[in-house]
This record gives sequence, C-alpha cells and structure tokens, in this order.
Amino acid sequence: MTILINEANQEFHLQNNTISYVFRVLEKSKQLEQLYYGKKITHRSSFAHLIEREVRPSSNMFEGDHTSSLEHIKQEYPSYGTTDFRYPAHAVTNKQGSHVTTFQYDHYEIQKGKPYLPGLPATYVESDQEADTLLITLKDPVLNLRLVLAYTIFANRPVITRHARFINDSDQDYQIENAMSASVDLASDQFELLQLNGAWARETHVEVNQLATGIQSISSTQGASSHVHNPFFALKRPETTEHTGEVYGFSLIYSGNFLGQVEVDTYGVSRVMIGINPFRFSWKLTPNQSFQTPEAIMVFSDKGLNGMSQAYHSLYRERLARGYWRDRARPILINNWEATYFDFNEEKVLEIAATAKDLGVELFVLDDGWFGERHDDSSSLGDWFENKNKLPNGIKGLSEKIEDLGMQFGLWFEPEMVSKGTKLFEEHPDWLIASPNREPSHGRNQYILDFSRQEVVNHVYRLMDNIMRDAKISYIKWDMNRFMTEVYSKVLPPDQQGEVFHRYILGVYSLYERLIKKYPKILFESCAGGGGRFDPGMLYYAPQTWTSDNTDAVERLKIQYGISMAYPLSSIGSHVSAIPNHQVGRMAPIETRANVAYFGTFGYELDITQLTDAEKTIVKQQTTFFKERRELIQKGTFHRLLNPFESNETAWMVVANDQSEAIVGYYQVLARPNERYKRIKLTGLNPNQCYAIEGTDKTYYGDELMNIGMILADNFTDRADEYWSQEKPGDYNSKVFVLKTI
Ligand code: DGJ
Repeated sequence: MTILINEANQEFHLQNNTISYVFRVLEKSKQLEQLYYGKKITHRSSFAHLIEREVRPSSNMFEGDHTSSLEHIKQEYPSYGTTDFRYPAHAVTNKQGSHVTTFQYDHYEIQKGKPYLPGLPATYVESDQEADTLLITLKDPVLNLRLVLAYTIFANRPVITRHARFINDSDQDYQIENAMSASVDLASDQFELLQLNGAWARETHVEVNQLATGIQSISSTQGASSHVHNPFFALKRPETTEHTGEVYGFSLIYSGNFLGQVEVDTYGVSRVMIGINPFRFSWKLTPNQSFQTPEAIMVFSDKGLNGMSQAYHSLYRERLARGYWRDRARPILINNWEATYFDFNEEKVLEIAATAKDLGVELFVLDDGWFGERHDDSSSLGDWFENKNKLPNGIKGLSEKIEDLGMQFGLWFEPEMVSKGTKLFEEHPDWLIASPNREPSHGRNQYILDFSRQEVVNHVYRLMDNIMRDAKISYIKWDMNRFMTEVYSKVLPPDQQGEVFHRYILGVYSLYERLIKKYPKILFESCAGGGGRFDPGMLYYAPQTWTSDNTDAVERLKIQYGISMAYPLSSIGSHVSAIPNHQVGRMAPIETRANVAYFGTFGYELDITQLTDAEKTIVKQQTTFFKERRELIQKGTFHRLLNPFESNETAWMVVANDQSEAIVGYYQVLARPNERYKRIKLTGLNPNQCYAIEGTDKTYYGDELMNIGMILADNFTDRADEYWSQEKPGDYNSKVFVLKTI
C-alpha cells in the first residue's frame, strides 16, 4: 500500500519502502497543510501531533482564532490574497480583476498506476503495480473553479511526481497567471541549494550555496530550458556528500520557460516550487476548459547526491524515455560537424564514413549544411531539400551509399527555424514569432517559426517527412540554435499572448510525437546549440541529447559531472573531437578524449581521415572497447567519486546491476611532480566478491575497494631507473579501469 488515508482526520500519507509524504486538510478553511516529506516514517492513525502552531501577530482567517494565518501554516499549493504573504503556487484573476483564490478540499480519488498527460511529456508506468496516484480535488466556491492536484508515488523508487490541473466549471473566463507543477513547504531552512548553471559551451556547472532568508530562484525566460539554468535543483543538508546524507531533488519535465524557487521565510520554513515560469505567462481559461501543468519529479534520498541522482537516472532511463531505442545499445556515431562544418560534398562525407566504418563506428551523422544554399549560418533554414551541388545523389542516394558501407545514416534538422530568402520565408513571412510593427531580432541570422500555430507545425512536418520517407534514416539530430525574442503570435488575441511560450513548446512536442509515431525506429538526439534544451521534457521524445558544443575532454569533465546530477548516461551525448580542440585549443591525448566520452553515448566528431595510422589503431581499440562495455555503461548504476569542481582530479564509475562488473574513469587535469600516494575509494560493489582489474594482475575484494580504495601508484619493481629519466604522463592524463568478479 503506498497511499494511506486517515479518513477521520482527512490526512494523506504517501509511503513506500523509503519515503513518506504527509499532508492533511485544514478543518475550517479546507486548504491543504503539509506535515512531512522525507525518509519513510511509520504510519499512524493520526498525525495531529505534527501540527505546529504559534500565536503570532498576523492576519487570520477566522475571528477569535489567532492561529489561523496561512502565513504560518506549511502548505501544499498555496495561494496569495488572503493571509499568506509568501510567493504562491498559483494565481488566477477574474473578469473584475480580483486575484483572490481559496481552493477548498472537496474529495480525493486513488488510481492504480499513473495517468497519461495528454500533449505533455511525463513519466509513465508499464504496470499498475508500479505506482499509485492520489488525485485531490479542491474547489473555489466563489470562482467555480476546480483544481486537481495529482500525486503519484512509485512503489520501488524514492520518487513522487506532481502536477496540477485547473478546470473552469463557471460560465466566465479566467486568466491563470501562475500555475506551478509542485509546491512543498519544508519545515527547515538548513539546506544548501545545488543548481546547474552556465552558458553556451560551459553548461551545467554545479553551484552550491547556503540558503538565505528570502527568495532564491533559477529560471528561464528564453523560450527553452536554456544553457543558463537547468530545470533541476536540489536542497541538500550542509553535511550531505555524494555518498551520505539527506537531499531533496526537484526536476521539471518541461522544455520551455521554467521557474525553480525556494523562499525561506522568517520562521525557518523553506517553500519550494517548480513549474512554468510565471514571468510573461498567462492562460485564458474559458468555460468547460482545463489547464494542465507539466509534471514535476521530486526525489528524496538519504544516501547522498549519488542516491538522488541514481533515482533520477533509472526513472528517466526506464520510465521517461520511450520506444524502440530506450533499452537498445546505442550506436557509436561519427558526426561531420567539427570535421567539415559547412564545407563538404558527397565524396568527402563518404570518405569519412568509410574510414569510420573500418574503425568500428556504426552510424554516420550528416550535420548542418546539406540543404538549400547553406554554406555558412546565414541562410537556408526552412529549405529542407538537399543541395545537389554538395550531394548530387540527394539525401536518399547518400543514405543508400552509407548503408551499403554497412553503416546507419543520420541527419541534422533545425525544424523550428527559418532564414530569410528561403522558399518557406517567402511564402509565409507572417509565420514568424514577431511583435507587431517591430523588426524581429535575429539569433545566428535566423528567425523563429510560430510553433504555437498548428498549420506551421503541419507544414514543417510535411517538409521533414518529404526527406525522411524516401531516405534510409536511422537517426535525427534536432537542433535549435537561438532563443525567443519579441514573443508574439499573430493569430492569438491580446488576452492570449501570454500563452505563446507554452503553446510553442506544445507545438514542438506535437511535431516530435508525430515524427516518432511515423518513424518509431529512428533514434532522435535533441540539441540546442549543445545543451540549451537538455531537459527531461526532451528525453520523452529523444532518448539522447547533445550535451554541449564544447567537446574538450577537460571541459567535459565538469559539464558531464554536472549533467549527471539528474540525467542518465544513456542521455548524455559525448564525442571524441580533434586537437587542438575547437572551443578551447587544448591538446588532450586521444585516450583521455575517449576516456571522458565513454561515459555517455559515445561517438566521434572529427575528420577521421586525417588521423595518423597510430591514432587510427587507437580508435579501432576504443570502438572495440566501448562495444564490449556499452551495455554496462548505458544500464549500470553511475556513481560520482571525485568532483572536478573541487580539485585537479575527477573520478566516476558505473557498476553493473548484478555487481559482477564495473568501469571506473579517473582523470587528472594537470600533471604534478613527485605526487602523493593515491587511492580511489570505489562504491556500489559487492563487498564479498573478488574483482580482477583488467590488464593488471591485481585483484581486490569489493570491501577492500570500498574501504581501502583502489591503489593508483604503479608497481615500480621493474622500473628501477631514476625519477628524472622515467617517462611522465603529462597534463590531461586519465585511465579507465574495468573490474570483473573472478
Ligand atoms: C549547434 C550544435 O550544437 C552543433 O553540434 C551543430 O549541430 C551546429 N549547431 C550546426 O549548426
């Protein structure tokens, strides 16, 4: 039983083997009071002893009752306008301009399993035994609005999912101005806020700050989840480490503007919420219509940050990603972007593909520049037909030649964009996102199609389908290289302009859905100038995401360490690229470039024909190595060990689900002379099993590896020469260890 209800006291207890979440209905006002969220507690017939009240100077709901201030009650999905002055989880304005809401509990319903969210990405179950869903219906008697709060608890995961739905039972219109997906008032402010932030080419850097009194938030206003913040954050205790301690994770399955916010009040309560960013958002709710928020995923772990991340990884890998590729080994790909940029022809492309094939690569991806007259980034987006000068046999002919080589073929699109001068732009200049009487700003010389309009999405579908139905396409990289400005849709009335951002993303989701329905075996990889839309919303359609345009191995340590806070390795696009690296000019050895890229969906992004024979031999070894371990990397349990934000060293590992195997990546950025002794303490192994370290004669028991650590110092018995004559590893050194039980 995962949903326990004390009918007499109107208390709800969501409980599984690891977590508990308790709330109740307030006797008089019928709003919802949050009582507890955290590690599993024993169920009891009453949780009244958890109610905290103090008489404080405040505004109160009921005369004669000085403890009826919502300001001092920890709540679920609070409102602003009566007695709570903190930031609300929702806001609705009526025709008279009043913004007060008082949603009161009406009834509950329990559903086995988890309902589907129409038009929105969401986690799912494959059997009703996997989860239970509690639907709480509240009503505002004055507005005649219904609010349904959905809570799903998974039986075997420390996960609660939440969303809200507003239904208009009245005969008048309302404007929803804020509709968070989840809100929870935690009874403590002793937390650090961990967030992932950055910019183009340096995404998902981990930042940790002590919570301060007042509001702190992460958000996007760019129309995509963005490079700046990721729609994920965690509240950890100051003493929580990667391996121990309490942490609460909050993640939003959404790819548009979001807000993640913590408000610490003056009484030590942290109000945590996540949802669509209310900034520039409003939604006109007409009679008999409903508004559905995206889904929020809350994880509680008392096993440190790794415990939290592992819960997200398995949920997102197994019950958010869908379809043919969810559980299948992902092909090793080669992408021509950094090899050729826009300057290629069929001959060059086939040369790269053929060389890559010989070296064990399985999929060739043709990136930007195959269509229209696209020779740089100033033109042709929207002209989704091949350039016959570059590709005389078209995409169809090229794809057949690639398949004849024994490889799969993949293709790049940027469906949401248009360049001036294209047929699409000439025919439909009014299809842009643009404000009346203003020139739209450009980003990378391109303009945004109004995906909030069904006809626009339909047209782009037809253009893509024209290419896709004839050619042999196994993979699509869906890119998006600018963010939204002058946000306005020509077809919506003034009181619905606040809907454009959200309708746009719904349009993106609908195009993805149509394409994956028609082409279920195509592997989609999402991308937005690298990691500008690396979010759980995208993972529902595209099981992998291009993590960053920064392909430098050292930079990737931080980016991949950060993204792994919430996202599984099976989603993290990571490639070996050329040196000097195109983003930072660094000269990392080819071994280290691969040792980093293995921990993701592995591939290459360089002119493989230009490698020396010695390098080609190494590439061949790398593809062979990865193929043998990709199942382990894709489906095993990932653990972060050494943090690149804290030192010169990084380490992480993946352990097979049956603990029979593990793979450990260890990286040292700068070389140091006459180093200290080094050991890496491993984790997640079977303490009683003996593991052999491949390529060495060393064996360790799991308990030794986890308590003593793996000793990194070489065995010097056969290296009796003096220190200064020994060969030094140099900067950007790394090593991958494979452990197998004997
Ligand atoms: C940005 C992507 O992140 C790159 O990998 C590449 O596809 C370019 N766009 C192409 O324009």
